[in-house]
Amino acid sequence: MSITILGIESSCDDTSASVISDGVIRSNFIANQEVHKLFGGVVPELASRAHQQNIIPVVDAAIKQAGVKPEDITAVAFTRGPGLLGSLLVGTSFAKGFALAQNIPIIEVNHLQAHVLVHFIKEDALDFNQPSFPFLCLLVSGGHTQLIVVKNHLQMEVIGSTIDDAAGEAFDKCAKVMNLPYPGGPMVDKMAKIGNPTKIKFAKPRIDGYNFSFSGLKTSFLYHIRDAIKINPNYIEENKADLCASLQYTIIQLLMDKLDKAVKEFGIREIAIAGGVSANSGLRDALTNYGISQNIKIHIPKFGFTTDNAAMIAITGYYKYLRGEFASQDITPLARFGI
Ligand code: KG4
Ligand code: ZN
Repeated sequence: MSITILGIESSCDDTSASVISDGVIRSNFIANQEVHKLFGGVVPELASRAHQQNIIPVVDAAIKQAGVKPEDITAVAFTRGPGLLGSLLVGTSFAKGFALAQNIPIIEVNHLQAHVLVHFIKEDALDFNQPSFPFLCLLVSGGHTQLIVVKNHLQMEVIGSTIDDAAGEAFDKCAKVMNLPYPGGPMVDKMAKIGNPTKIKFAKPRIDGYNFSFSGLKTSFLYHIRDAIKINPNYIEENKADLCASLQYTIIQLLMDKLDKAVKEFGIREIAIAGGVSANSGLRDALTNYGISQNIKIHIPKFGFTTDNAAMIAITGYYKYLRGEFASQDITPLARFGI
């Protein structure tokens, strides 16, 4: 009998549901919340209200698209954290209710672990392109920047984290300074393609070990613009592409430096990237070139699996199901939840 997992993700501003059978994806439905664009960032209260409106139609669509019936679902996996508490509550409560109604188990999922496990979602039963253990994963999103040694599906060791802003936050905050719409990362990526990456030099921090820091870069970017605008009020408009390219180049260098250090010290021959910033074309190119030059296997997720999605929750749920790791109905979400 096949194991069919319904995954539910509601940790931030995307409501998503997905159905995965025996590790093979059958559907992945995501409702984005446009309302936050008006405020230049996610408004927690509005996010949880939008999740409440979206959750039933999104789950319904995911089940229908998968061609299954609610009775065919073996277990429900949901994001327990980390994330916005009000948002997490919606997905958690829905998962519990659905499981009670169907008399099936629930499985709690760590959102960060799930980002890493996108690399194990199979397109079809003959898809064997998954990473081999151990591999290094660079998890880069709007809320997190972590370097992880992945020992098996559920055993991961975080060897480095950001000590201040996340990489995506650096993209978004600097984009805001240039008056680009939220979230700024994708727009910086687009503009960077026509700019000069070495035109402007920004401060780069020296942080020991595998930790990262992006707040100094953000300040350096802000001061550069503040000073340049005093001389030329149109500085941003006239130099936007170079600003974006130079910012992106600096962020990628900071990430790649630590990745290279970890590869050399741990002797690991496979690298994966995950999280929203793994959609960045410059990072994808840098990693691909690094893989070629160092003869290291690189795993880059499909664009649809870079940002928050429930397929990653469902696949994590699948591996936890195989290990019999179930949660009880009195489980509560966690805003802070380490790997
Ligand atoms: O993983 P995600 O969807 O949500 C969080 O858990 O944070 O990541 C969102 C982040 C945002 O900061 C967004 O600007 C960034 O990913 N992002 C990008 C790109 N696409 C999304 N950053 C740089 N280049 C991109 N192409
Ligand atoms: Zn995420």
